[in-house]
Amino acid sequence: MKTRITELFGIKYPIIQGGMHHVGLAELASAVSNAGGLGIITGLTQKTPAKLADEIDRCKEMTDKPFGVNLTFLPSFEPPPYAEYIEAIINGGVKIVETAGNNPEAHLPALKAAGIKVIHKCTSVRHSLKAERIGCDAVSVDGFECGGHPGEDDIPNMILLPRAAQELSIPFVASGGIGTAEQMVAALALGADGINMGTRFIATKEAPVHQNVKQAILAASELDTRLIMRPIRNTERVINNQAVEKIIELEREKGSDLRIEDLRGLVGGVYPKVMDDGDMEAGAWSCGMVVGLINDIPSCQELIDGLVADAQNIIRDKLTEFLVD
Ligand SMILES: Cc1cc2nc3c(=O)[nH]c(=O)nc-3n(C[C@H](O)[C@H](O)[C@H](O)COP(=O)(O)O)c2cc1C
Repeated sequence: MKTRITELFGIKYPIIQGGMHHVGLAELASAVSNAGGLGIITGLTQKTPAKLADEIDRCKEMTDKPFGVNLTFLPSFEPPPYAEYIEAIINGGVKIVETAGNNPEAHLPALKAAGIKVIHKCTSVRHSLKAERIGCDAVSVDGFECGGHPGEDDIPNMILLPRAAQELSIPFVASGGIGTAEQMVAALALGADGINMGTRFIATKEAPVHQNVKQAILAASELDTRLIMRPIRNTERVINNQAVEKIIELEREKGSDLRIEDLRGLVGGVYPKVMDDGDMEAGAWSCGMVVGLINDIPSCQELIDGLVADAQNIIRDKLTEFLVD
C-alpha cells in the first residue's frame, strides 16, 4: 500500500502501533515494524533516559525496519527530564517520534535538528492545526472512541476524521476505535492516510503483557469501557473494574472538589501491576471501545497481513459491487 504516511516514514503499510505505557516495549515495537507497520516504543515506560537508550538498542537488535519512540506530555506527579529522553532518542538513531498530550513545540527544534519526523497525537481539529503550524510532519487524530486520553470534546471519528481532512494539509492517521479491515478502509475513505491502533495491538502474541490482560480484552464488550478523571480535565478511557467503579464513586461524591491526589492509589503506579503481574483489579488502565471487536490473539504479522489483505479485497471487490454501469 502507498499513502503519504508510508512515504513519510518509509514503511510498507500505513499501520502504526501507538505508544502504550508498559506495553510498547521493544518486543511489540519490533514485531509491528517487522510486519511492515510502524512499531513505537513508549519512552516514559523506561524509568530513566539511560534505560530508554537500552530499550532502543534492544529494538534495533530485533528489527532493521524503521520504528519510533513515543513521548507523552501529560500532567504527572513528577515531570520527567524530557530533554534527556530526547537526547537518548537522538543518540539511538531513532528517526520517528510520536508526541502526545501537551503541545510539543518546546522540543521540536532539538528533534528537527536531528532529522527526526514528528507525528503528534491530537484529539481535535484545532490542536491538529496547531501541530501543523508549529512544524509537525503528521498528526494522529484520536477520536472519542480511543483508549487512553480522548480529550474533552467527545467528537467520534465519523465526524472528526472528515473534519480533519477538510482542514489539514499534512498527512494524518485515524486513531481510536480501529481493529478491523472494514474500519481501516472507512478511515481511508474519510480522508486519513493510515491508521493508528492501541488496544488491538495488546491482544497480539508479541505484546509483552500478562496473559490476564489479553484475556480481559477478549472477554470485554464495547460496553465495558468507562471515562474517568473528567472533573479534573484529564479524561481517560479505561476498561471497567472494581477500582474504576471506586473512582467513579469518588468523582460523584467530590464533584468539582476532586483533586488528582484523591485518586493517587487508583491511577498511579497501576501499570506494572496490571501489565506485568496480571492483577486486573490493581487500578485503572487504558482501553478503547474497540475491545468489543477483538476476539483473537494473532501474531503482529498475522494481524497486519490480515488487515491489509482484507482491506485490499474490500477496496477492489466488495465496494465496487455497489456500482452500476
Ligand atoms: C494500555 C494503553 C496505554 C496507553 N498509553 C499511552 C501512552 O503512554 N502515551 C500515549 O501517547 N498514548 C497512549 N495510549 C493511547 C494509544 O497510543 C492510542 O492512541 C490509542 O490506544 C488508540 O485508540 P484504540 O485503543 O482505540 O486503538 C495508550 C493506550 C492504551 C490502550
